[in-house]
Amino acid sequence: MLGILLLLVTFPLSAKAQTNGNLTLGSSLTADDRNSSWLSPSGEFAFGFREMGRGAHLLAIWFEKIEDKTIVWSANGDNLAPEGSKVQLTANGRLVLTDPNGTELWSPSPTVAGVAYAVMLDTGNFVLVNQNYVNLWGTFSQPTDTILPTQQLDLGTKVNARYSETNYSAGRFHFMLGDDGNLAFYATPNPWDPSDAYWVSNTVGSGFQLMFNQSGQVYLTARNGTILKNAQSERAILEFNGVFRQYVHRKTANSSSGWAMAWSMVSSPVPPNICTSITQNIGSGACGFNSYCALGDDQRPRCLCPPGYSLLDSTNEMSGCRQDFVPQSCDGSRPETDQFTFQDILNTNWPLSDYERSTAQTEGSCREACLADCFCAVAIFGGGTCWKKKIPLSNGRVVPSDVGKALIKVRIENSTLTSTGNGQKKNKNSTLVIIGSVLLSSSVFLNFLLLLISYLIYRSFRSREYKSSQRVQVNQVTGMQTFTYQELQEATDGFREELGRGSFGAVYKGVLGSGDTNFVAVKVLATRTGESEKDFEREVSAIGQTNHKSLVQLLGYCNEGQHQLLVYEFMSNGTLADFLFGASRPSWYRRIEIVCGVARGLSYLHDDCTRHIIHCDIKPQNILLDGSLTAKILDFGLAKLLMANQTRTTTGVRGTRGYLAPEWFRNMPISSKVDVYSFGILLVELICCRKNYELEAKTEAQIVLIDWVYDCYHEGSVLQLVESDEEASSDVKRVKRFVMTALWCIQEDPALRPTMKKITQMLEGAVEVPVPPDPSSLFSST
Ligand SMILES: *[C@@H]1O[C@H](CO)[C@@H](O)[C@H](O)[C@H]1NC(C)=O
Ligand SMILES: *[C@@H]1O[C@H](CO)[C@@H](O)[C@H](O)[C@H]1NC(C)=O
Ligand SMILES: *[C@@H]1O[C@H](CO)[C@@H](O)[C@H](O)[C@H]1NC(C)=O
Ligand SMILES: *[C@@H]1O[C@H](CO)[C@@H](O)[C@H](O)[C@H]1NC(C)=O
Ligand SMILES: *[C@@H]1O[C@H](CO)[C@@H](O)[C@H](O)[C@H]1NC(C)=O
Ligand SMILES: *[C@@H]1O[C@H](CO)[C@@H](O)[C@H](O)[C@H]1NC(C)=O
Ligand SMILES: *[C@@H]1O[C@H](CO)[C@@H](O)[C@H](O)[C@H]1NC(C)=O
Ligand SMILES: *[C@@H]1O[C@H](CO)[C@@H](O)[C@H](O)[C@H]1NC(C)=O
Repeated sequence: MLGILLLLVTFPLSAKAQTNGNLTLGSSLTADDRNSSWLSPSGEFAFGFREMGRGAHLLAIWFEKIEDKTIVWSANGDNLAPEGSKVQLTANGRLVLTDPNGTELWSPSPTVAGVAYAVMLDTGNFVLVNQNYVNLWGTFSQPTDTILPTQQLDLGTKVNARYSETNYSAGRFHFMLGDDGNLAFYATPNPWDPSDAYWVSNTVGSGFQLMFNQSGQVYLTARNGTILKNAQSERAILEFNGVFRQYVHRKTANSSSGWAMAWSMVSSPVPPNICTSITQNIGSGACGFNSYCALGDDQRPRCLCPPGYSLLDSTNEMSGCRQDFVPQSCDGSRPETDQFTFQDILNTNWPLSDYERSTAQTEGSCREACLADCFCAVAIFGGGTCWKKKIPLSNGRVVPSDVGKALIKVRIENSTLTSTGNGQKKNKNSTLVIIGSVLLSSSVFLNFLLLLISYLIYRSFRSREYKSSQRVQVNQVTGMQTFTYQELQEATDGFREELGRGSFGAVYKGVLGSGDTNFVAVKVLATRTGESEKDFEREVSAIGQTNHKSLVQLLGYCNEGQHQLLVYEFMSNGTLADFLFGASRPSWYRRIEIVCGVARGLSYLHDDCTRHIIHCDIKPQNILLDGSLTAKILDFGLAKLLMANQTRTTTGVRGTRGYLAPEWFRNMPISSKVDVYSFGILLVELICCRKNYELEAKTEAQIVLIDWVYDCYHEGSVLQLVESDEEASSDVKRVKRFVMTALWCIQEDPALRPTMKKITQMLEGAVEVPVPPDPSSLFSST
């Protein structure tokens, strides 16, 4: 003990601050960078200031001898003390925390009178004592989120979890030994009803005290001392995530640093899985609103935001999530159903947010029902039933045994920047802003100056607007916007930024109008078509008239002498090839969205648009992704335009080998089924996330992907195809359905291949996929 005393004297603290004995009236500590504290006699515990952020101090008690100086009690988590604040045991016996101006920030409640001295005890209890050595008040009677051995909680005592790991403000979770003797854990600050508790001791009438005795047992006693519930530990804390854990500080062998001290948990947490234990109707559940709870490997809950949502407070995962998009309009005249799509999460549910339930035959009809309903934020489909959920979503959790699937409704795109009209509107707005700021400004001279400047700016905008509106030339025959070569040269800054190069020519990034964000992609056709000007315009007009969310929209063209250029909407996320075969593999559900989008786009081209269009060159390089990763098909319609008179010999073939249907190489008629074949290859690539040919494949049998896919299907081991892909592996049914669909697409006989419309239904599970015939003859024939 003497050794410790001597050691303590060498701390660079003021004489009063280093006292390890009784603190006399008038003692004080100042919050500065000197880590001043009052120690317990053995030096085990310290009472003082801890710096929580620049110049923000927490009055706290902590384990002084443990390396991370674990905090066990705090006074002002909700109201941190600025630099220079002071905690003082005043001459008249009050313990108060004041800021540098003398404003009181905290003091014990209820107020105690007759204090003679204070002492930091070796138990971790900081007490105010009267001259008869009676403890009048102690931090043990006003716990925060931790209880320690020898601490006892009386009826009516509350233990409140902190806001987050490092923020000591009060959080949502608390437990209370109620006046009725029941120990109950709540997930809301002000519980409405005792039945809202997520864990209870069921000791109404018999519970009396929660004890944490010297030998580390936590137990609830009855009035007569009988133990009702118990466990063993050294520190018991209601963690910020609502779980009550008991820890001891243990030495653990560590090969890299010899011996390390660490807190280890000594008994199972209460409750064992908080994600599923909260069932109350009010409140958000274990996590915040709109988020969902998943139990981590360490048994701690993790709060996650669904796709399209992000954390309200990025520093606190318990804070809940907000939608990153503008919600669906409830105006019946513009239902916006084409503006929204769904992202799936498996085994996840918000069981308490239902407002409607229906028996839906298929997942497709469940999606449609949610899409058509502006109140529906999420639909859960499972076992033939469709539940609609509204905002705010509460009590989200991952339930591995839940067969249902959550369909999260998200807006496809936030903004569209396809017409020059947008750019002009922007200019007007900025002019208004400038004039507005002029009117708000006060100096007359400044006003005059600013008015002059803004007038000049306004005029320059006007003249640019005039120019750009001059530029919008609409061809009377095609109904499409036409551009001069010079305009496109200017828009692309002299064809400076090349976005890609395909079989029909290079594509450049450009900006239209005077807006800086009105991006377009300009395709310079490499070979001039053999067609007359009229025929070219007719074909381009057919392309321009297609309008489907899975097709890259053609905005206009230029047909001037030897220059033929096409102007498309700009797709900010590049090609599917880069996305799929790049460094980070896109998720299974994203891949499903993409493949279904491409199928719908092709189905539209083949059957629904006024002129049936065969693409002839479906491959990942010709699928582009927009800002929200929606897939869109590029270059449709060009095959007809550019290949009109070419013979269908191998040399004349414009498609890409590997994606080409066998009929290209034989003297057979070409039909829309060539696209079905190419789509089949694309589909297996999307399932397996690899290219059709991969010379460095693990085994020879895997080099040609479609061979391997058929082998796996034949052996009944389709899961081998998605081996390292957890999401896909847990979605076996769909993987199998997709593989079977792909095998139908790559049948050698075009007549056997289904139509794209049928394939769309197969992928969506709307029709049964029959067992595909053996396509093996196919592979030896080329
Ligand atoms: C501190 O107070 C205790 C009684 O609570 C007393 O026994 C002890 O002698 C005092 N110690 C000092 C150093 O005054
Ligand atoms: C105060 O504590 C911090 C962290 O515990 C430490 O880095 C710093 O050196 C201490 N300052 C003094 C003056 O002891
Ligand atoms: C102290 O008071 C002054 C003047 O009233 C004020 O400007 C300052 O912000 C106060 N400081 C603190 C730490 O509250
Ligand atoms: C702690 O969280 C509360 C509640 O969100 C917030 O008001 C406070 O600023 C946070 N404190 C710190 C130090 O971040
Ligand atoms: C103590 O009280 C509890 C609950 O009130 C009761 O079940 C138990 O029988 C009592 N034991 C004794 C020894 O009185
Ligand atoms: C603590 O409580 C346990 C019973 O749970 C008892 O066996 C033990 O003796 C108690 N220790 C002390 C120091 O009171
Ligand atoms: C061992 O110590 C090192 C360095 O302190 C630390 O990074 C590592 O996590 C420790 N390992 C275990 C198992 O505690
Ligand atoms: C969508 O637009 C809203 C409102 O303009 C904006 O707050 C939000 O950040 C945007 N989201 C994305 C993903 O761009």
